[in-house]
Amino acid sequence: MWQTPESTTKVLPDVRGKDVVELGCGTAYVGAWLKRAGARRVVGIDITPAQLATAQRLNRKTGLGLELVEANAEVVPLRDESFDVAISEYGASIWCDPYKWIPEAGRLLRSGGELVFLRNSTLSMLCMPDTGRVQESLQRAQRDMNRLEWTDDDPGVEFHPSAGDLIRLLRANGFEIIDLVELFAPEGATDHVEYSYVTAAWARRWPSEEIWRARKRD
Ligand SMILES: C[S@@+](CC[C@H](N)C(=O)[O-])C[C@H]1O[C@@H](n2cnc3c(N)ncnc32)[C@H](O)[C@@H]1O
Repeated sequence: MWQTPESTTKVLPDVRGKDVVELGCGTAYVGAWLKRAGARRVVGIDITPAQLATAQRLNRKTGLGLELVEANAEVVPLRDESFDVAISEYGASIWCDPYKWIPEAGRLLRSGGELVFLRNSTLSMLCMPDTGRVQESLQRAQRDMNRLEWTDDDPGVEFHPSAGDLIRLLRANGFEIIDLVELFAPEGATDHVEYSYVTAAWARRWPSEEIWRARKRD
């Protein structure tokens, strides 16, 4: 949200010559970025045909040669141990059941492969009311966050397991945790036009997003 460059976060593995799967790829702009960064093969998985149609249109336009597969990232129709990197940017990382998609990412990765995913920070979710912007006080119980059901005018189900739950889940699925990068808004940042649920003023003081990086053990 805050235009933080990878040169600052340094959270991505070197993808040159690697096989990458993007889980919940949407427009697959992340996959496209990794292909440009030298990935050998990039496969985008998404459950929504309209999103994949956009991804396919952009793929044709850019000529990057991404492979796009319509599937649920909780049950991916691809071979075991066929990727070096699994990535999700607000895809499976919040829209899929972590007890399904993380084991699936573990299955798809080769030994030594890396899983990188971006999601809202736990603190921002705790301070997010059912409607309106993220506050400076707790708005919901952490116990309810693993599966959050929004019932407002944009209904849906999201998954925001706590750091403790995620650490246990990643380790139980053969991952070692390499990093948890908390993203703040930089000085001078202005509110995001589209994602106005958290202000730049809030995110200058507390991390509004976080990136997890884990490696599949040998
Ligand atoms: C907010 S978008 C983010 C994706 C991408 N980073 C982008 O900006 O386009 C979330 C995507 O997750 C996909 N998604 C939701 N549930 C999914 C599931 N169970 N399996 C695969 N994709 C899913 C949606 O279709 C959507 O394209």
